[in-house]
Amino acid sequence: MLLKYRNFLRGLAVTWWGKAGVILTTSSFITFILFEAAHTLGLIRNAYIGLITYLLFPALFIIGLVLIPIGWYKYRKLRGLPTKRLLEEKFSSEDVQARSFGSRVFLTILLFTLINVVFITTAGMRMLHFMDQAHFCGTACHTVMNPEWVTYQQSPHARVKCVECHVGEGVGALINSKINGTRQMILAAFDAYHTPIPTPVHQLRPTRETCEKCHWPEKFYGRKIRTHVHYRTDSLSTTFYNTLILKIDAGNRDEKTGIHWHIGAHSTVLFTSVDDEQEEMITVKVLQKDSTWKEYTNTRLANRQVNYKKTRTMDCVDCHNRATHIYQDVEQAVDDLLYNGSIDRSMPNIKREALAAVSGNYPSQSAAMQGIEQHLNSFYMRQNPQPELQPQLAGAVAELQNIYNRNIHHQMKIDWGTYPSHLNHANGGGCFRCHNQNMRAEDDSFIRNECTLCHSFLAFEEQQPFRYLTPVAKDQPGYAMYEYLLQDALNSW
Ligand code: HEC
Ligand code: HEC
Ligand code: HEC
Ligand code: HEC
Ligand code: HEC
Repeated sequence: MLLKYRNFLRGLAVTWWGKAGVILTTSSFITFILFEAAHTLGLIRNAYIGLITYLLFPALFIIGLVLIPIGWYKYRKLRGLPTKRLLEEKFSSEDVQARSFGSRVFLTILLFTLINVVFITTAGMRMLHFMDQAHFCGTACHTVMNPEWVTYQQSPHARVKCVECHVGEGVGALINSKINGTRQMILAAFDAYHTPIPTPVHQLRPTRETCEKCHWPEKFYGRKIRTHVHYRTDSLSTTFYNTLILKIDAGNRDEKTGIHWHIGAHSTVLFTSVDDEQEEMITVKVLQKDSTWKEYTNTRLANRQVNYKKTRTMDCVDCHNRATHIYQDVEQAVDDLLYNGSIDRSMPNIKREALAAVSGNYPSQSAAMQGIEQHLNSFYMRQNPQPELQPQLAGAVAELQNIYNRNIHHQMKIDWGTYPSHLNHANGGGCFRCHNQNMRAEDDSFIRNECTLCHSFLAFEEQQPFRYLTPVAKDQPGYAMYEYLLQDALNSW
């Protein structure tokens, strides 16, 4: 049987073209099967080897297949004889003899063609599947995607594939993404990409096709209580709490009470911004019940020449821009380590010193690793020698180096604050880009910004997480404010 197969291949391989073709097809076929087996067994997970398996081997295989008929064509021209005669020369008369279903040679070629078609289709499908895997997207262009890959793995979406947000469903989306992906691959190969990668990402699919497949607006109801724990930069790193009752409702047609009102079934909010980063709004338009538009204009820009006129419909990512690639705020990152005990809070001044160590201006990742260690060592071992703190100190250094590596990526020029989140109002960004008193309508109303519009407070920089639930005596200072905030919290339901 094997001998017959060999003879058949020999017969096919005429001229150098044909020989090269047969060698290419057989060797790429066999190597593909071996690599695929290794993948299936989990022996290989490397994205580059994946690329070779699913792109290079099938490509070589197809090139080989094309070379074989070219070989025959050339051979026929060279010999100047009809194909039938040449076949008779190459194969035994028994093989070439016509039967009711065609000659043996014909049947063998048919069988091989079928195998080829099945093989190429399977390889193609495996390739698409492989390229859909988060592991591939995250590691194939290592330097470029590393920050996104690192942040993705620690996010609530670590089990959601990249393509479910970045590509969406449908053949159109797939083709689009492959064209885009090829362009980006070329840019990456020639180091011609922007550092950091600019945001907002314009190729993101409409969130109706991505986020709303898993989260839909009707699902948001009620309130969400959230406590933010912080530490002061005093010697004891004193704890304080902000507890919010977030009004995350989507509301309904008649009521506009709730954060998800913007993307509710009956709401449309359009905006134009000064530049592509969408940090400062020019106009914000809201669809009214009578189908007219209410337009708010930024009065701060009244005397300025602004050109950017592209209008965008507000959707999930205008607030959840960091749904997956979550870069921490530097202070929050340190607070989290203190909160979960990764860093021992009993070390004097630890909040202040940890913050100074990780927010230092370091030229490279490795300089930062050394710098963080040196900073803490010099504070606790030289300036205020406390040898008993040595074990805690080593732990603190390692944890701080970790958060530095998670958030800062020198190769992509990503520093603290490079990708701010819009899901808050730190430094007047996020919600306050629109919710501020400069956004005025014709009737002089503005986009509301009172502190209890989006959340009520159960604690605002207090020593207890639920401070306002504790009764306060009438003669105590701040009684009126406590009473007001408690009533507001109770009424928020
Ligand atoms: C849950 C949805 C979701 C998943 C899953 C997801 N992303 Fe994103 N990604 C986003 C959103 C939203 C943005 C847009 C940020 C913006 O426009 O400001 C983004 C932005 C990016 C950017 C631009 C740089 C940046 O950090 O904003 C890159 C690169 C990227 N994603 C790569 C990936 C890769 C690689 C994966 C898989 C390992 C992935 N994404 C998985 C939602 C997602
Ligand atoms: C394939 C399904 C899927 C898609 C698509 C998806 N998510 Fe999620 N999302 C999840 C799951 C699962 C969780 C985690 C729930 C949990 O951990 O309790 C989650 C969690 C979240 C959370 C809560 C995070 C937290 O800290 O608790 C937010 C906000 C969110 N997603 C927003 C988005 C946005 C915005 C998009 C589109 C850019 C999106 N999601 C796309 C499945 C998805
Ligand atoms: C106006 C800004 C805004 C828009 C637009 C928005 N969200 Fe949110 N979303 C928020 C805020 C604020 C929270 C509460 C954040 C927190 O938990 O800290 C939230 C919470 C969530 C949660 C967690 C809910 C829970 O019960 O814990 C999910 C899931 C979510 N959003 C998904 C979406 C999706 C999907 C869209 C688009 C269809 C969307 N959001 C549009 C601001 C927004
Ligand atoms: C692109 C502009 C824009 C951004 C960004 C934005 N909003 Fe809004 N928001 C609006 C507009 C416009 C209204 C409706 C104003 C009106 O009443 O005409 C509104 C209404 C609201 C309401 C309902 C107010 C009511 O009258 O009951 C809440 C709650 C709200 N926003 C919360 C948020 C939160 C939280 C964020 C940030 C996470 C945010 N918004 C970000 C434009 C924006
Ligand atoms: C347009 C909606 C909106 C308005 C108006 C608003 N906030 Fe917020 N605020 C938010 C959102 C969204 C967050 C983030 C919630 C989260 O993730 O838990 C937030 C968070 C906070 C936090 C917690 C921050 C932290 O990290 O501990 C405080 C404190 C706060 N707001 C105070 C205020 C005060 C004071 C005002 C009035 C000047 C105000 N807010 C007005 C939407 C709003």
